[in-house]
Formats: sequence, structure tokens, C-alpha cells
Amino acid sequence: MTASGPEQWVAVDERLAVFAREDAVLAAARTSTEVTRPGIEVSRQMGRMLHILAAATGARRVLELGMLAGYSTIWLARAVGPSGRVVSIELDRDNAAVARRHLEDAGVSAWVDIHCGPAADVTARMVAAGVEPFDLVFIDADKANLATYVERALELARPGALVIVDNVVRGGRILDPGDDEQVRGVVRALGALQGDDRVQVSITQTVGEKGWDGFAVIRKVAP
Ligand code: DHB
Ligand code: MG
Repeated sequence: MTASGPEQWVAVDERLAVFAREDAVLAAARTSTEVTRPGIEVSRQMGRMLHILAAATGARRVLELGMLAGYSTIWLARAVGPSGRVVSIELDRDNAAVARRHLEDAGVSAWVDIHCGPAADVTARMVAAGVEPFDLVFIDADKANLATYVERALELARPGALVIVDNVVRGGRILDPGDDEQVRGVVRALGALQGDDRVQVSITQTVGEKGWDGFAVIRKVAP
């Protein structure tokens, strides 16, 4: 085997895509060009993993921060099924409309609530309203405010819940963020988690069709 590089990462993801098989609706959501940031939906493997984690933990209530075209939302909604609930927050009204259409096409919209607005505001209102705790939270919104999102997720999650965070490695730039506010946001969130005894954290680096990045799996062990 020669040295690995982005071309091989993509080829391997193509080979492994059979494990994360998509129907036409999932494929359309992942590849949608109608959203503000095309191409940044989670990878197929990440979508499948979210589905498996939600199903395996028996999650009934899932919270998602950042939905874009609804790709991860569909995976999560299919995992909880019609007796569950997915609450998903999207900043951009037009993205939310695109996502809503994909959810309808996927047949899951009856048990997905879309909230349009800044995730920091929407989650603050949820905390103030004392909403029923969530079993799983997936964070994939802007990275500059990530520390706030992780804190809100932990407030809104029940003890034992999982909080999954996308994009926590950013091509290794977390080691030297410079003045990149997105990467600095990730570094602040990681710093807060390091000193937090409410949680157990595991971070996995990933390479593949979305380059070099990583995700965090956080387990809330104490209130
Ligand atoms: C970016 C954001 C994402 O959520 C992602 O998965 C990949 C890239 C970005 O902001 O560049
Ligand atoms: Mg992401």
C-alpha cells in the first residue's frame, strides 16, 4: 500500500458506501445544491452511524443543531420512527424549506419539528421553557459558537444521553487555529469539555469524502 491521500480516502468511502446505502431521498438531500453551503452535509458513513447510535440507544427524543438540507435529519428520524421526535434547528429560512421538502419526501416530517433561527436563541428558549430532556443531540451548526451549543446540549440532555459533535478536527487546524473564528470556536469547545466532569468524551479523527476531520461522542454521565 502506498502512502494514503485524499484520492484514496474518497475511493475507500465509495467502496464502503454499500454499508450506508441511500434511497433517492437521502441521496438528494446529501447532494442538494439549493442550500447556502452545498457539499457540507455529513458523510454517508456519518449519517449511517448517527442512525445506528440513535437506534441502539433507543433514543425517543433527538435534538439537532444545524440541518442544512435535512440529510442527517432523515437518518435520525428514521432511527427514532413515528413514535419518536426529532427537533431540528436551522438558521437559514430557505435551507429549512429545502430540508422540509426532503423530510416530506422521506415520509418522516410528521415526527420532525423544525425551528428556524439562531441555534443559541432557540436552545436558550428551550432551556427556559424546561422542555422534556433529549436522549441524543447532534451538533452540526456553525463552529464559532460551538462551546455555547455543547453547553446547551448538555443542559437539554438527560443523564446518560449522547451528544455527537461534527467537525471537531478541521484538517488538524485545531492545533494551530490562527485567527480562524470557526476553528477557534472548536478549540474553545474542546477546552470547556476537558474540564467538565459531567461528561465522558471520545474523539475520532476521520478521513474520507469530506477530507480530514473528526467527530466527538460525548456521554452525559452526571446532571
Ligand atoms: C463545514 C461545516 C460542516 O458542518 C462540515 O461538515 C464540513 C465543513 C464548513 O463550515 O466548512
Ligand atoms: Mg458538519
